[in-house]
Amino acid sequence: MKIRNIVLSDYGKASSIPSPVNRMMTEFAVGFRDGIDINLGVGYVNEDTIPRQQIQVACTAVLSNPQKYRASLNYGGAQGSPNLIESIRRYHVDNRIGGITEKTFEKKEIVIGANGATSLLESITHVLPAGIVVTADPMYYIYCNDLERKGFIVVAIPEDDAGIQTDLLRAKLDQIGRGKENIQFFYVVTVNNPSCAILSNHRKRELVKIVTEHSYEVGRKIPLVFDNAYRELVHDRTVEPMESALCYDELGIVYEIGTLSKILAPGLRIGYLMGPKGAFVDSIIQRTSDIGFSAPLINQEIASYLLDNGIEKQIEKVNIGYQEKAKQVRTWIDDLLSANVQTCSGGSAGFYYYLTFSNIDTHSGSDFFKYLTRTTGKDDIDGPLHDPLPKVIYIPGEYCVHPHGEMVDIGKRQLRISYGFEELPQIYDALKLMRLAIAYCKEI
Ligand SMILES: Cc1ncc(COP(=O)(O)O)c(C=O)c1O
Repeated sequence: MKIRNIVLSDYGKASSIPSPVNRMMTEFAVGFRDGIDINLGVGYVNEDTIPRQQIQVACTAVLSNPQKYRASLNYGGAQGSPNLIESIRRYHVDNRIGGITEKTFEKKEIVIGANGATSLLESITHVLPAGIVVTADPMYYIYCNDLERKGFIVVAIPEDDAGIQTDLLRAKLDQIGRGKENIQFFYVVTVNNPSCAILSNHRKRELVKIVTEHSYEVGRKIPLVFDNAYRELVHDRTVEPMESALCYDELGIVYEIGTLSKILAPGLRIGYLMGPKGAFVDSIIQRTSDIGFSAPLINQEIASYLLDNGIEKQIEKVNIGYQEKAKQVRTWIDDLLSANVQTCSGGSAGFYYYLTFSNIDTHSGSDFFKYLTRTTGKDDIDGPLHDPLPKVIYIPGEYCVHPHGEMVDIGKRQLRISYGFEELPQIYDALKLMRLAIAYCKEI
């Protein structure tokens, strides 16, 4: 008898096919040769920034103080460890992060995600009805891909050096007319991934204004979600300190998502959301319970200990390392690639540079990509099949720009390179190979 395969939901169907960027990264990872191939594609933090010893100390301290860190190897509550919530609150207030004071937290809640900031972002896709999400272009492709698989329509507004362009956003809102009713939330990454463009305080205030006006116009509060994944990694001291929009959000629509991944360790999987108390936050807490009760309690308590004991020093150390790398990599980009680079963003925060080439394609079908992944089909370029010449991977801009947005053409000439994970000598080698790849593109 014939039997049909398992019937998947629309989301299941969409998720059964890995996203193109996931496919590309997996293919690369499978044959990856340590010490030979160079991965400028991953968003991994630098291993040296992870405070292994302090984590060990924190773990011992937590386990040996069961009065404070109760049942730390047991299940945790869905909102998160009270110790960690208090540590996060205190970290913000004591350091006046973004201008936050005790008063800012009145009528606000802090909740810990089940699995980093990612799980909180994902939870939002479950508790809000599908509809339009407005974000910046280039966009955080991982989350935008998730949103689209869940049936959301992503509208991406081009950014410049100061982040999402609010005049273009206003124009877009006018243009979509009645469609505005269908906007479910705004999602803005304050140090954008891939571009590392820093959202200016002026633009941030504009955004709060626009979304507040928009909320009044449609007669309901529309959440404005700021993703602060790289907020602590603004390593260029000349940049204006980033304000928190929680400080001036009068209507109660601003939510900020933070993570300890970039300043401590992604493996702890600690992300948090801060925003007005209410049904939206309550539904996120319930969702955390639904997908795994809570983040591992032991990790939350370790994170709490680390926030209480020297986090400022740790952040400083991390930033010194990234700033040094940023400067060095920028010099090499200028030396090796500048003749072909039209724009280069990044270098002040996070650990990505986002380049636009003037006339070289970077997409996965391009000669540049094929050269660097040794898939040209030419022996002299690729090397022997069983032992190819060193490969380099990066994130092509085609995956970072919205496929139906205004940047689709320019995206084909863009790329994100990460200076987070690999060490400087490897990054230098990779950039030299990129130069050879450009020469190859011009030759053929
Ligand atoms: C913009 C952005 N948001 C969120 C995350 C993920 O954070 P977490 O590790 O806390 O899930 C990342 C990771 O690279 C990111 O780039």
